Amino acid sequence: MALKLATLIELPLCGDDRGSLVAIEAGDTVPFEIKRVYYIFGTKVGVSRGFHAHKCLDQVLVCLSGSCRIILDDGSVREEVVLDSSVTGLLIDKPIWREMHDFTADCVLLVLANKHYNEDDYIRSYEDFKSSVQ
Ligand code: TYD
Repeated sequence: MALKLATLIELPLCGDDRGSLVAIEAGDTVPFEIKRVYYIFGTKVGVSRGFHAHKCLDQVLVCLSGSCRIILDDGSVREEVVLDSSVTGLLIDKPIWREMHDFTADCVLLVLANKHYNEDDYIRSYEDFKSSVQ
């Protein structure tokens, strides 16, 4: 499925009769140098997360277990994607408002980012985001 606001990356699966393995190479599978890795898990039922944009940050999201629904919004187009596969990465490399909904209890969402955590890079108000992209 092609998205307008982000890119789905097929991650290389090394499977054999023992099971599966995915290797992610910075600058290759993921088109940036990885400076930060974090993961979201144990999200309570009905809780949504995100509700922010980044001024300048590239990220790849991979749902390692369970599923969640991601909303992407560039200020005029809004689209959504369900992440439910550990062999699919969602590359977000533009200033996009993102929301995360419908986490299953077993959801583990891995995020790779090209910068260290910096609260100044966040836009946490949708109105401010809309103004910034106009
Ligand atoms: P928050 O931005 O609210 O998470 P989400 O985007 O999933 O809604 O982050 C939750 C807390 O974790 C907040 O106190 C900031 C902290 N945090 C870090 O310290 N480093 C990080 O890389 C991230 C993503 C968050």
